[in-house]
Amino acid sequence: MCDPLRQVTHCENIRLAEDGRSVIILDQTQLPNRTEYRALRTPEEMYEAIQLLRVRGAPAIGICAGYCMYVLARQMEERDYDAFAGRFHALKEYLNASRPTAVNLSWALGRMERVVTGHPGASVEELLPLLEAECKAIHREDIAMCRSISEHGLALLKDGDGILTHCNAGPLATSRYGTALGPLFLGKEKGMQFKVFADETRPLLQGARLTSYELQRAGIDVTLICDNMASIVMKNGWVQACLVGCDRVAANGDTANKIGTSGVAILAKHYGIPFYVLGPTSTIDLSCKSGDDIEIELRDGAEIREKFYAEPMALPEVKCYNPAFDVTDHSLITGIVTEKGVCYPPYTESLAALFR
Ligand code: MRU
Repeated sequence: MCDPLRQVTHCENIRLAEDGRSVIILDQTQLPNRTEYRALRTPEEMYEAIQLLRVRGAPAIGICAGYCMYVLARQMEERDYDAFAGRFHALKEYLNASRPTAVNLSWALGRMERVVTGHPGASVEELLPLLEAECKAIHREDIAMCRSISEHGLALLKDGDGILTHCNAGPLATSRYGTALGPLFLGKEKGMQFKVFADETRPLLQGARLTSYELQRAGIDVTLICDNMASIVMKNGWVQACLVGCDRVAANGDTANKIGTSGVAILAKHYGIPFYVLGPTSTIDLSCKSGDDIEIELRDGAEIREKFYAEPMALPEVKCYNPAFDVTDHSLITGIVTEKGVCYPPYTESLAALFR
């Protein structure tokens, strides 16, 4: 019989098709009602899948982008190195424009491009196996990083703790285990019990559609709450730690994550609850000095006005402001958990030390 916990933690959300001609993704926009896979073959299909959040979560976007570049490289007709490198660069830039905030996208695309630029004059036949190895390495490394983040994160928790999380940073958003949800799955494997509160995460409901789905299927005690209920569950004493993922961490520890995260951090500070950010070092961007340097994605107001409602809930002409992320000030963050261990303030020192 299949172990339901393993089914969740080892879900195959992104993979290269066996013939190498497409990237197969689990379409996260259809969950939890339908389990549908899509094959991405063209640059436009790949761009659309990332832009519409069919594949989403910073590490998952990076993994997907790596495979996409390999699939696109195989399709290229250019045989001359310079022409091939030029077209590869143009496609990389195109995919990089699909979403601006999660640094893992440009990080993975940059890794793929360095395979090409690192072998000047190489033939396409020589480059393709190297590109295939690189995208597979990005995926493999993420699995190891998530496992390690889960272990470091679990060491911060006690059996029986109440945990509040925002958005979705589980296996669907990564490779296996996830980042913010990783310690909970790992703890469950070890027989620990947590009581998790999942913010629904307006407007795209990643908490309702994905986090509560993953935790419930894994047999972890999860209670879904609306975003504006976080304060009451904290006040009631039901939350011993907040665990969230991240899309870009600046050199000073300011962290961009799903819109609403900074509000959770402010509440946690008020109630004296530790607030942890969990993510791989690939999400740390030392070129951003602070959160002010992080570009925040703005999305279509229709996501607020009408998406997920049976009928629109606001007049079509009503103005909407729909930032996809916000920045949590480093002063509100108790620790940043990476695959290399937990960083504590002052973050300018502890984060820089990770890269020495
Ligand atoms: O817009 P999304 O759903 O891609 O936003 C995702 C998040 O904010 C996650 O918390 C973050 O990417 C970390 S996923 C391990």
